[in-house]
Amino acid sequence: MQQLERDDEERYRDIFAAAGLRKSHLIFPVFVSDKPGKIESMPGMTVTPVEKITEHVQTIIGSGIPSLIVFGIPKSRDRSGSSASNRKGVVQRAVRAIKSSYGSSVNVLTDVCVCQYNPSGHCGIVSSNRVDNDATLRVLAEIAASHAEAGADVVAPSSMMDGQVRAIKGALGGFTKTMIFSYSAKHASSLYAPFRSVAFAKKRSRFDKSSYQVPYANPRQVLLEIETDINEGADMVMIKPALAYLDLVRMVKDKFSYPVAVQNVSGEYAMIKAAAMRGLVDEEEWKVCSIASIKRAGADRIISYFALDVSKYL
Ligand code: PBG
Ligand code: ZN
Repeated sequence: MQQLERDDEERYRDIFAAAGLRKSHLIFPVFVSDKPGKIESMPGMTVTPVEKITEHVQTIIGSGIPSLIVFGIPKSRDRSGSSASNRKGVVQRAVRAIKSSYGSSVNVLTDVCVCQYNPSGHCGIVSSNRVDNDATLRVLAEIAASHAEAGADVVAPSSMMDGQVRAIKGALGGFTKTMIFSYSAKHASSLYAPFRSVAFAKKRSRFDKSSYQVPYANPRQVLLEIETDINEGADMVMIKPALAYLDLVRMVKDKFSYPVAVQNVSGEYAMIKAAAMRGLVDEEEWKVCSIASIKRAGADRIISYFALDVSKYL
């Protein structure tokens, strides 16, 4: 005889166990700023002011998730994104505070890019209506060094500039313990829209970043981007978004047997939240099934806004 109604919690625990997911695989995203705020497009997510960051991190550590990635939202923006590498910038202050409170009991990753810090919202330095790859590399190198100096365990370049790993590796010189997790295959996607609505200067729903982010339909380019970052010395390669790209996760894992992280992005969070709020899908079930599928595809690490929520099933 089969029991008719199983306890949901028990079912979710089984799903994660079958996928081999553990808390140590999860990385929770944290938005830091000088001003607190709710994120309208991402119900349940908040922007944490620097002075409250250690309390927020206590909740994350308390859930058993050992890793977080910091995204900064600066007060001021300029064309060269100079506030991104400021020793007293939001990210640098937050990382220092987290590390001085929790030391090695938490792994701190930082997002390294210029899009939040310049008025265009592009991931590179814009001049004469173009993204200047090499000028951006110099800025990324400075940002990464400033994050390492503040105590980041891992810097995660997300600008998709050619040579970003090599440039950062060069700048990290003395910081021999700082690792580089590179967003190697970041697809041009509207699934970043909720993130952009909170982090960028320009509130616009569409951004064309297709000249530097990878297109949906080209797995060969994905493999090339991944191989390049491995050769440049990335400690982990990353793919994002997650759900429509899980075939690539498996492909990369099989081909390179290298550590792979996947980011389950803001739009993927927002879609489940929005549908669940209208009673169209079961939120718990879809959080659990989507995270489990990312693990099953072969991800070694998963960055997800659902990480805290699902930790209770692990
Ligand atoms: C910036 C960055 C973006 C995201 C992470 N880092 C936005 C973009 O490339 O426009 C999106 C993350 C998310 O949607 O959760 N380089
Ligand atoms: Zn960017």
